[in-house]
Amino acid sequence: MLYVDTHAGRGRHVTGEPGSPLVALKTFLDHSYRDELLKTSEFHFHFIERDVDNLSALNAELEVLGALPSRVLVHHQQGDAFRWLSEAVEGLRKSGRNIAPAFVFVDPYDFKVPAQVLADLMGAGRVELFINVIWRELDMAVQHRPEPGEGMARTLDTIFGGEEWRTEITAPEVNERMSQAVRLLARKVGAKWWTYVRMVTGGQATRYILLHLTNHDKGRDLIKDCIWSIIPEGGFEVLKSEDPRQPMLIEREPDFAPLRAWVIDKLQAGAQRWSALEEGVRSTHWRTTHLNDVVRTLRREEAIVADDFVGRFSKTADPRLRLP
Ligand SMILES: C[S@@+](CC[C@H](N)C(=O)[O-])C[C@H]1O[C@@H](n2cnc3c(N)ncnc32)[C@H](O)[C@@H]1O
Repeated sequence: MLYVDTHAGRGRHVTGEPGSPLVALKTFLDHSYRDELLKTSEFHFHFIERDVDNLSALNAELEVLGALPSRVLVHHQQGDAFRWLSEAVEGLRKSGRNIAPAFVFVDPYDFKVPAQVLADLMGAGRVELFINVIWRELDMAVQHRPEPGEGMARTLDTIFGGEEWRTEITAPEVNERMSQAVRLLARKVGAKWWTYVRMVTGGQATRYILLHLTNHDKGRDLIKDCIWSIIPEGGFEVLKSEDPRQPMLIEREPDFAPLRAWVIDKLQAGAQRWSALEEGVRSTHWRTTHLNDVVRTLRREEAIVADDFVGRFSKTADPRLRLP
């Protein structure tokens, strides 16, 4: 398995918080399945950093961790991350191999992330991308509408993999514009699922977007679980894939009434297997576990009936669900 941190940083922030390479490594080292996973797999952590001083600061932080298990390998690379990624993908292509399952974190200071490099990476195999999009500056550049051929226009063409940003990122309302930009990026990178949270630092304006892109249904489920697990006081917004113009407030104590209504609505159209509802809920912001709770409650309340299954009423038995 690969973890790639394209903009690895110094290993520790001025606030004392550990940087993303340390977070990733420690998350794996402290994982309860670590030894099981290491029986069958190697875990390679690639940390790429352009700045020499930052890289040596990172190395000093990593040394504190001491010796790592033999199948955990850390590789540092000094240089430009996008060149490194392009060469890595080209190397794979030439050798006719797929990339190992990879989680790639792209955390630059600026918004110049080339869509084509990310598209090539996604096309190389099972890749999850997690990108910190520097939204405010990117939005300002798009809104500025530079003339074709101007330096900034060419930069935007590179970021969005073509000139469609001119015609597709046009909404007057900022959140809608954001969802247009994310949709375009997801399409250009070739991702089936996109999930993002808006990062607000003071006030209301979004500064960054943390954007997760994947082609795997389980990747979508897992990132939703992650988002629900990091809810700060007061909640925050995520956007549903199927109708990204509707921001959904994730709350510490979620109100399941809308999800109940969603289930009833689906069953009004006809009976459905539990597994089909699970497929359907993926594109919403609700988790599978939320759906399962709601299905069990509705059945207990006799608001829905289950038939055509063997054994105990459970998700595994995959009953057919319908309205009474
Ligand atoms: C936002 S910081 C990364 C922070 C880090 N991800 C963390 O959470 O601790 C961005 C870093 O990217 C480096 N950098 C900038 N452009 C780069 C490039 N093209 N390739 C690799 N590193 C780059 C900068 O030197 C800086 O250390």
